[in-house]
Amino acid sequence: MKLPQSIQPVDATHVRYRGRRLVYFGGCDYYRLTRHPHLLKAHAQAVARDGLGTGASRMTTGNHPTHDALEAVLKKFFDCESATVIGDGYLANIALGQALGSGAKAFDALFIDEYAHLSLRDAAKFVGCPVVTYRHCDGDDLAKRLAKRKNDRQILLLTDGVFGATGRITPIANLAKVLPHGSVVWVDDAHGAGVLGDRLRGTVEHVAPSGFKGRELIQSTTLSKAFGSYGGAILGPTWLRKSLLDSNRVVTGSSSLPAAYAAAAKTALGLLRTRPGLAKRLQRNTVFVKDTLRESGLAIDASVFPVVSLNCPAPKEATVLRRRLLANGIYPSCIRYPSDKADAFYRFAISSEHTSAQLEKLAEALCP
Ligand SMILES: Cc1ncc(COP(=O)(O)O)c(C=O)c1O
Repeated sequence: MKLPQSIQPVDATHVRYRGRRLVYFGGCDYYRLTRHPHLLKAHAQAVARDGLGTGASRMTTGNHPTHDALEAVLKKFFDCESATVIGDGYLANIALGQALGSGAKAFDALFIDEYAHLSLRDAAKFVGCPVVTYRHCDGDDLAKRLAKRKNDRQILLLTDGVFGATGRITPIANLAKVLPHGSVVWVDDAHGAGVLGDRLRGTVEHVAPSGFKGRELIQSTTLSKAFGSYGGAILGPTWLRKSLLDSNRVVTGSSSLPAAYAAAAKTALGLLRTRPGLAKRLQRNTVFVKDTLRESGLAIDASVFPVVSLNCPAPKEATVLRRRLLANGIYPSCIRYPSDKADAFYRFAISSEHTSAQLEKLAEALCP
């Protein structure tokens, strides 16, 4: 399988593709912070001061003051006992799987959503207990499968907070409810963090603002989507941090996040906290597109997440949509995962920076 054709960004909402300047609804940069002047400045200053990389893992000589500063800001932003910065979001999940498998807590079984992100599925292998897959976002199916393992009391649940491909928000409160008390809920909130919830703390704040009674929450996330930078983070109780620092293979054996990306992520967290207009604009744009599509008769899910996803079971359908998008000056963001049997689908990520005219063009292309 070949890689898709490369795409050259032009500005916050345009890319150059096959010689044309097209409006871009791809990716996950929901606030287009990757090119925000404050982030660019923080990054440039850190590169000038610290160089490009740290040259070592955090457990050796690669622990940088900006990592500590970012962790302090993450702890406050997400209101958690500890935050640990890791090289990227995929690695954060691997490190977390290793930490949970290292004996800090013993689990009888691990339950994972059938569509969990690849990194969660890989991470599950490190936990070292039986793995049970339950039906996508289905609390009843989870309860049924739990009932078959009556003697298991220490359960670890793994799920994405928001499924990035479809924008579906996981009903985490319903899932947590069926778990025995003392269970641990691990939410990979790569997409929800910075987007959902009153304080943008993510899916759990959006779905279960007062948390889960009797079940412990652990979260992992990326710094490369809503936060416009690069890197990963693990958010959770103090015992988890301790476990991560006790001979974790990723923390010990992988170069730490370049300080410049940590500085940019820290700036992004500050912007999202102090500029509520960004999140309001993102919500307004999302509501506009989804309401317009619904009014035109398109079956759009009820998710408030800024993603519109359309399945294209037949190649002809995909070609027709591609032509309509190109005719409207929009980049045809068609996705086909090589490892999945699933059909190709079009995914459109709405951002806070798209103009009304661009959003109207998208709605027009999707509802001819
Ligand atoms: C749900 C989820 N988890 C983890 C990751 C990996 O994050 P990163 O790109 O920072 O490695 C992604 C990225 O695509 C994701 O969508």
